[in-house]
Amino acid sequence: MADLSSRNPDWWRQAVIYQVYPRSFADADGDGLGDLRGITGRLPHLAALGVDALWLSPFYPSELADGGYDVADHRDVDPRLGTLDDFDAMAAEAHRLGLKVIVDIVPNHTSRLHPWFQEALLAGPGSAARDRYVFRPGRGEHGELPPSDWRSVFGGSAWHRVPDGEWYLHLFAPEQPDLNWAHDEVRADFRTTLRFWSDRGVDGFRVDVAHALVKDLAEPLRDVAQFGATGEQALERVPPGTHPYWDRDEVHEIFRDWRKIFDAYSPPRTAVAEAWVPGARRALYARPDELGQAFNFEYLQTAWDADALRGAITGALATARAAGASATWVLSNHDVVRHASRLMLPPGTDENAWLLSGGRAPEIDASHSLRRARAATLLMLALPGSSYVYQGEELGLPEAADLPVGVLQDPVWEQTGRARKGRDGCRVPLPWTADGPSYGFGSGGAWLPQPEWFGSYAVETQAGTAGSTLELYRTALRLRRKLLEGESLTWAADAPFGVLHFARSEGWRCVTNVSHAPVPLPPGEVLLASVPLPLDGTLPPDTTVWLGA
Ligand code: GLC
Repeated sequence: MADLSSRNPDWWRQAVIYQVYPRSFADADGDGLGDLRGITGRLPHLAALGVDALWLSPFYPSELADGGYDVADHRDVDPRLGTLDDFDAMAAEAHRLGLKVIVDIVPNHTSRLHPWFQEALLAGPGSAARDRYVFRPGRGEHGELPPSDWRSVFGGSAWHRVPDGEWYLHLFAPEQPDLNWAHDEVRADFRTTLRFWSDRGVDGFRVDVAHALVKDLAEPLRDVAQFGATGEQALERVPPGTHPYWDRDEVHEIFRDWRKIFDAYSPPRTAVAEAWVPGARRALYARPDELGQAFNFEYLQTAWDADALRGAITGALATARAAGASATWVLSNHDVVRHASRLMLPPGTDENAWLLSGGRAPEIDASHSLRRARAATLLMLALPGSSYVYQGEELGLPEAADLPVGVLQDPVWEQTGRARKGRDGCRVPLPWTADGPSYGFGSGGAWLPQPEWFGSYAVETQAGTAGSTLELYRTALRLRRKLLEGESLTWAADAPFGVLHFARSEGWRCVTNVSHAPVPLPPGEVLLASVPLPLDGTLPPDTTVWLGA
């Protein structure tokens, strides 16, 4: 049985971590925005679910230009979400319930409201204050052109001009100026932040855009057009580690420095990198002397296809093993279309076009998509390594694809000239009750409108209901705790076409039918199935079963 006791330094290697998006989880004070006391009040839900840890997306002071990933003070709580005392109370209650607490750390940029950036604006060109960020004069006769062709992930140029004529770098929204990690004060300040939260009992960190911190700022700045592609696509066209701003080799020195801080605590603090880079490069962030784990987004991006899934799983396990890390699996998070919808989109579907159509082109059959999502979840939870579960997926919640454009909050919408709808459809406040104000999210409504079908997915509707998705997650997590030990799997040699079949080292097996036709159910005691199995000895399409040793 997996040892998840609080002092086991390896607790994270096969943990299930639940992502809380604080502003959309539960609202205790009725202002329409989720808060820390709301989370504390709902911790019993997480304990009953059976996860090992919760990871909180940013709850720090922020003007919410990017859902809180624009941080004005890394060592405080947004007053709308509570106080540091509320944080301590939440963490204490989580620990009492046996749940670890992971917080998000956002080192690539600050909010433009951060005191450092305000100081930099006032101090003017050439000042020491500007050197904590990346300010440059523009190109062109009057400096009217951006200093390079670097692109913002959210659309448009990555440079913004200030009234005195200089430009500053923002790889995300203009409200998120990038820090200069060549600056000692920047490095020192983040060490202080890591200790600040570790001293408060935080068990680990999720590191936002870990692959962006170091830029090649040698003059003249190198344009990316020379690689024949812009944005993250250009990553594939340059020798690894040499892109001007993604995944540069020097970034690892920062994480080796952080590891010394993590290891000064007992048990050592854990970390997971958010790094949208190909597998072998991703593994570098996960080395034991760095962050220890990195999100595996290739799995998330893999279509519902047996060969593709098998390849992604095998590759990820090998990559993690080579790095001395454990693998990670993610199906949903706050940046992507929820998997209960996404896995039904035919390969090659333009997700943005689908969102712009309000989720109607193509139309998704809700019961079929739920069936597939449940099969995908049981497959994920049977894999060696850690699974990251996003709030609401335990309810089988689909994407709210039909949010009217007038309510969108994601900066992506405006920054792309209203071309990309963005990520709000997976961030709608959770339904806790079948009806009532904002389906139990809070008494003051919800900051994004909840679709009228939300109530049928509510926690209250599903808790204790045999066959519900919530009960499936609960049972799966309970069973997983009992079954887990080793970190390897062996593929069955005789799996039919379209079927994933592997045994864990303890002998129990997982079989998923990804094909369109029923297949014979392999022999063995059925421990759990993603939907009730027929009595004819077959495993229907879009179904996963766990079989005893
Ligand atoms: C990460 C976050 C995303 C955010 C971005 C900028 O990718 O997951 O939500 O917009 O970083 O901080």
